[in-house]
Amino acid sequence: MNPSSGNLHPTEAYIVTGVVEGLTETPAVWHYAADRHALEQRCAFDPDAWRAAGGDRPPMCLVALTSIHWREAWKYGERAFRYCQHDLGHAIGAVRIAAALAGWRAAMLPGWSQREIASLIGVDRAEDYVEAEQEEPGCVLAMTAGEFPDAPGARRIALVEAVQRGRWLGRASQLSEGHVDWTLIDEIARATEDPGRSLVAPVVAAQDVAQDFGPAHNGRSKDLRDDPAHFDARALILQRRSALAFDGRSAIDLPRFVAMLSRAMPGRHAPWDALWWTPRIHLALFVHRVDGLDPGLYILPRETAALGRLKDAMHRGFLWERASDSVPLFRLLSGDGRALAQRLSCDQEIAADGFFSLGMIADFDRSLREHGPSFYRHLFWESGVVGQVLYLEAEAAGARATGIGCFYDDPVHDVLGLEGHAFQSLYHFTVGVPIEDTRLTTEPGYSWEA
Ligand SMILES: Cc1cc2nc3c(=O)[nH]c(=O)nc-3n(C[C@H](O)[C@H](O)[C@H](O)COP(=O)(O)O)c2cc1C
Repeated sequence: MNPSSGNLHPTEAYIVTGVVEGLTETPAVWHYAADRHALEQRCAFDPDAWRAAGGDRPPMCLVALTSIHWREAWKYGERAFRYCQHDLGHAIGAVRIAAALAGWRAAMLPGWSQREIASLIGVDRAEDYVEAEQEEPGCVLAMTAGEFPDAPGARRIALVEAVQRGRWLGRASQLSEGHVDWTLIDEIARATEDPGRSLVAPVVAAQDVAQDFGPAHNGRSKDLRDDPAHFDARALILQRRSALAFDGRSAIDLPRFVAMLSRAMPGRHAPWDALWWTPRIHLALFVHRVDGLDPGLYILPRETAALGRLKDAMHRGFLWERASDSVPLFRLLSGDGRALAQRLSCDQEIAADGFFSLGMIADFDRSLREHGPSFYRHLFWESGVVGQVLYLEAEAAGARATGIGCFYDDPVHDVLGLEGHAFQSLYHFTVGVPIEDTRLTTEPGYSWEA
């Protein structure tokens, strides 16, 4: 139920499992076939290697995500690279939230290099991609119901070697016969290739789904729609869609707005515990219709340490008035920002007609200095996870959201007074009350749902 830039769905998912009763008698690598909601076996490999890699203690599986750049590039050209990263970030959020629904945990394993991920899931097997478009490895997450595995280097390499010795099946299919080469995409991919890093995945406290998704909903005021479905995480996830247009008049009240923002704040719970780095994405909000809050420009730093540097980097004349006791929301300017918000988001009316829209501002240069060029991807991934949470929060509030990948970066920076690359706007987002498009019909995703 992921959103996807242009509805092009460039993200592919793989899982690596041990023996699973009813599924497989040997450890295996599987490709998730979204069109059939099925697992396709790619490889069967040695059970000893899986045990030696710690796969059985506790039982876990690995989830690897890749992008097929061409799926976005045929339409969006060079911008495809960033859209693939946004989408992958949404998928990370979705995987972590899905794990929480099963009472499991999932977290990205920072030690895995892109090359190791490619070998683990076979996307580097040229013989299986003779005509098919290349898949770019993204990240790998461990998913477990028990203590979190640390997957040190030696076991990682042993696992990759065992998979390489395994029995491989299947071939990737080709999307298009003709292609346009967008060489910049390949250059960015090479320049940001992830060599893996010697960090262990953060050990997170066990959380159950009630803790992960309950309190903010329980603590908030009455829903826009008083429907019990909005307390059911599964129903919310399955009903998530993007708004095509907003009504341009409905407002949200301040407690619900703050509750929504508080869910976008990081913490040691899902989905934020899937990410191994400290938060780098901050929200610059154009508040249009929030009862109890003046319209205007606001900022929500998602990391205390960034507050001072954001202040120093932005326009001197900003107010910096604290606007909430429960979240670090600051008013920068008061006034009607609807036309400006619409202009900045490629003139899309959805940026002006909702309760609010926002730009996700990444702590850019400093993050890349700290974690290297490959962290460019991670910044987009974090923005995708923030987007995934806001999509679900909007549904929970009886409203609707839309991710906005089309915006004008530099004018956004001008509005905020940002110079250079210290902070960069990476993704926009909007939330409001949707207008149903009566020309559209909804069909079940899969035949067995009919
Ligand atoms: C990274 C990203 C960027 C997007 N950018 C835009 C956008 O600029 N304008 C827009 O109307 N929708 C945008 N969308 C929404 C997609 O068009 C939408 O997710 C897709 O059509 C699938 O529909 P659904 O979300 O209802 O399942 C974006 C979605 C994502 C994930």
